[in-house]
Amino acid sequence: MAEFNLPQNSRLTEGKAWPKPAGAAKLTEFKVYRWNPDDSANPRTDTYFVDREDCGPMVLDALIWIKSKIDPTLTFRRSCREGICGSCAMNMDGKNGLACTTGIDECGSKGKVAIYPLPHMPVIKDLVPDLTQFYAQHASIEPWLKTTTPSPEKEWAQGKEDREKLDGLYECILCACCTTSCPSYWWNGDRYLGPASLLQAYRWLIDSRDEATGERLDNLEDPFRLYRCHTIMNCANACPKGLNPAKAIAEVKKMMVARQV
Ligand code: SF4
Ligand code: F3S
Ligand code: FES
Repeated sequence: MAEFNLPQNSRLTEGKAWPKPAGAAKLTEFKVYRWNPDDSANPRTDTYFVDREDCGPMVLDALIWIKSKIDPTLTFRRSCREGICGSCAMNMDGKNGLACTTGIDECGSKGKVAIYPLPHMPVIKDLVPDLTQFYAQHASIEPWLKTTTPSPEKEWAQGKEDREKLDGLYECILCACCTTSCPSYWWNGDRYLGPASLLQAYRWLIDSRDEATGERLDNLEDPFRLYRCHTIMNCANACPKGLNPAKAIAEVKKMMVARQV
């Protein structure tokens, strides 16, 4: 639900309200977070009116329309426009998601849409978050096949049943919607790995071809890296690919217990 009232004492200010496009029969109002590191101004929210009859149906279509027709300085990431690259992840009407797969009418049911960057990440500019820490945490779980036995001549074979264990995990596009919706990550993001990296950790832990299970579990055995997940479940609710990082984290915790008995 859109909430356009700014919090009291917020450093966020009301920005510019751009004029409505002339002659448009159907308009949707967008309130968009703006911040430019090159000036000393506080963050603000600018208001734009999008001509829906001249614009595609998705939030990303609206942002591209605003950028090309009204305000070329508006900055956001996008690439594939089909839910595969993860780069257009942002917060739309209070919910994280992909702008290219979220319909304007899905989140702008009252004719208004509020757009912010992914929460609790440093902002590079406007809707572009700094994901340096997020990617470093993903790298820290060593997301590649680790083996000790000599490589086979052709390939590391995997049976159908073992391959199916990766379903619900391999589809992750590293968009960060889950991690930036997790309160535990907001509080301890420097030490807690967060749901995306932990889902990826589990993806390699249960890969039948991988031979570094013990080492991988050792890497997670820490009061913060794994155990700061308190089953809050925002992550599963936020994932635009329908994945369940909370379940993957629970499975990792079970593996931890299993190796101690
Ligand atoms: Fe994005 Fe879902 Fe992967 Fe999290 S688990 S990074 S929300 S695709
Ligand atoms: Fe966070 Fe999901 Fe755990 S929201 S606390 S990672 S269940
Ligand atoms: Fe690639 Fe949206 S532009 S997921």
